[in-house]
Amino acid sequence: MSVTIGTPLQSSAVKVLLLGSGELGKEVVISLQRLGVEVHAADRYENAPAMQVAHYAYTINMADATELKKLIHHVKPHLIIPEIEAIATEVLLEIEEQNIATIIPSAKAVNLTMNREGIRKLAAEELGLPTSAYRFANTLESFRAACDDIGYPNFVKPVMSSSGKGQSRVKSFDEVDAAWEYAQTGGRVNQGTVIVESQIDFDFEITLLTVRSKNPETGEIETSFCDPIGHLQDSGDYVESWQPQAMTPAALEEAKRIAHKVTVALGGCGIFGVELFVKADKVWFSEVSPRPHDTGLVTLASQFQSEFELHARAILGLPVNTTRHSVAASAVIYAGVDDTNLSYSGLDLALANPNTDLRLFAKPEGFKRRRMGVATARAESTDQARELAKNTANLVKVNQN
Ligand SMILES: Nc1ncnc2c1ncn2[C@@H]1O[C@H](COP(=O)(O)OP(=O)(O)OP(=O)(O)O)[C@@H](O)[C@H]1O
Ligand SMILES: [Mg+2]
Repeated sequence: MSVTIGTPLQSSAVKVLLLGSGELGKEVVISLQRLGVEVHAADRYENAPAMQVAHYAYTINMADATELKKLIHHVKPHLIIPEIEAIATEVLLEIEEQNIATIIPSAKAVNLTMNREGIRKLAAEELGLPTSAYRFANTLESFRAACDDIGYPNFVKPVMSSSGKGQSRVKSFDEVDAAWEYAQTGGRVNQGTVIVESQIDFDFEITLLTVRSKNPETGEIETSFCDPIGHLQDSGDYVESWQPQAMTPAALEEAKRIAHKVTVALGGCGIFGVELFVKADKVWFSEVSPRPHDTGLVTLASQFQSEFELHARAILGLPVNTTRHSVAASAVIYAGVDDTNLSYSGLDLALANPNTDLRLFAKPEGFKRRRMGVATARAESTDQARELAKNTANLVKVNQN
């Protein structure tokens, strides 16, 4: 079956509704715009990054089922791309069930990955993939028992949270009650359940970007992998990433086996960010995003098709190419202040080296630890690329006006 795309803003348009309009969504929108797709972008605040490059923008509470349903029935999209986890996912299950729109990659994937309990049970218990030891707890008492059971140090995370929110590393029993309190404030919804995970003593961690796309000849869905991306996390948030991450052939094969298994189980077409911990030849599954991954911003500099272009192509039923052309790295630029109307200076110096590039996300408001941009750099080795990306990011000054 041949893939056809119409004209935006006319009746033949292929319409996409993006739920969540952050910096990753912005790049997805740009990729879709290049292919002539009509894009509708929603978020909880006005002038979010992806809204600024979409045809239409909507400010709604996406966690509210009634508001979300109303928007979907108004837009009548062919595809719905959830870009964040805080969405009334039960609505998406219903929309998929009634064949009203295609949920990217699938309502099941979105529903399972928005809750750590769903994805962990699928990966460890149904698929038998190696993970850290874990327990769930929803009262202080059961939480204390879970911590003792798992041992120390361990990682405590609200089951509904991302970017390190409410997450702590508990080193001994003395810290257990404080970790519980902290987790209760950091969850997306005040649901109370946390996961306690044993600490994995890894050499490094990777994101294995995994694409499920249609083979143009057979029409069958096939799986392709980008080269592994190494990254550095600080308080549960990524600060640097690089590609490729060197690893043993056995570990790479195991990483692909795990990523293949979990993405097949989640289903649909699109890109997935499979987070894995690696120690020599051993690999553990950590979690998976059924969408582009923040550490994958590096692919803007390293691949012929960035993770955003790969996602856009895969969801439209087009063939993909995951080939890397360069060694590259990315480094995050934070606001450093809590303010609106920020400006960015030093850009000429930052970009003086021809192997560097910048993305400034144009967020209307900054917070000290809010990601406002990213620097990318290409070099001979990942060490050199990391150094150059960090220097480039540091040359960008964020100013209050
Ligand atoms: N069991 C574990 N053992 C060792 N390190 C861990 C463990 N769990 C989490 N970490 C560390 O904390 C980081 C963040 O954890 P995780 O990815 O589960 O949180 P998150 O809030 O979903 O973060 P993000 O949304 O940025 O991916 C991991 O990338 C890893 O560096
Ligand atoms: Mg993570």
